[in-house]
Amino acid sequence: MKQIHSDARPLIIALDVETPEQALSLVDRIGPAADFYKVGMELYAAGGPEIVRQLLGRGLRVFLDIKLYDIGETVKRATRQIARLGVHFLTVHGSRSIMEAAVEGRADSGTQLLAVTVLTSLDRDDLADLGYPASPAELVALRVEKAVESKIDGIVCSPLEVAEVRRIGGPGLKLVIPGVRSAGAAAGDQKRVATPAEAMAAGADYLVIGRQVTRAEDPRRACEEILSEIGRSGVWNADSLVSQRLSGIEFDEPQRGNQAGESRRDDQKPSDRNEGRFISGGDTPD
Ligand code: C5P
Repeated sequence: MKQIHSDARPLIIALDVETPEQALSLVDRIGPAADFYKVGMELYAAGGPEIVRQLLGRGLRVFLDIKLYDIGETVKRATRQIARLGVHFLTVHGSRSIMEAAVEGRADSGTQLLAVTVLTSLDRDDLADLGYPASPAELVALRVEKAVESKIDGIVCSPLEVAEVRRIGGPGLKLVIPGVRSAGAAAGDQKRVATPAEAMAAGADYLVIGRQVTRAEDPRRACEEILSEIGRSGVWNADSLVSQRLSGIEFDEPQRGNQAGESRRDDQKPSDRNEGRFISGGDTPD
């Protein structure tokens, strides 16, 4: 049977820090509790491809979140260069010409492309200002369809969009979800948040978490607690828990859900996954 999350823990830590030194020090403190890191515009501006190489050189996976947006030829060539670095995920904006150019640029490399559909900071008024007579939800839906047609690998979306994006995009699309907070953790400037377990239950493949981990007194412990929280909820398969134990992290047994070797996607219809409940909400998907 096909498995989900069998390759790795579903957690990506956002290295939103000013310098490569700070980033590497954080990675050291987190140790074996995380193996996938997001390098965003700030750190990439400070550390460039070298910080990416250093992270990859430590055997870590890298999500380069620099949201490419330019004419097709430029996006294709930039994507080719980034793919040569060996990053695992790269974000591009969700316009068809950009997505198609990026797909061409990454060719048969291992880099997976994630589309950003509508920036979560945009509301209906912002879209009207840009000339789009649509709500964020409508535009997200349209762009998810185009992303699938363009052969994009996945989508970055908010916890409030994840169930609908999964429904439209189908089981093959990787859904990467920021805006996630454990109950009781400070939401910061994130307005619409879900807990890690809720986001996973709604259909997420990976959660992007920044400050809850990076600003914690003990970042490693913070990661372990999030993984444990997901494990307890049963929405992350047992194989992953076993592999986590092997890496030295202790987990409680899942209370319910998947057995080793079973896939949540194999035994659930897409509509079955649209049941995530969120600790705060809004009327737009951003
Ligand atoms: O600190 P926090 O967990 O809020 O960090 C979330 C990360 O995900 C940041 O790097 C932020 O830029 C990114 N992000 C987000 N919301 C989106 C898209 C990306 O918070 N809608």
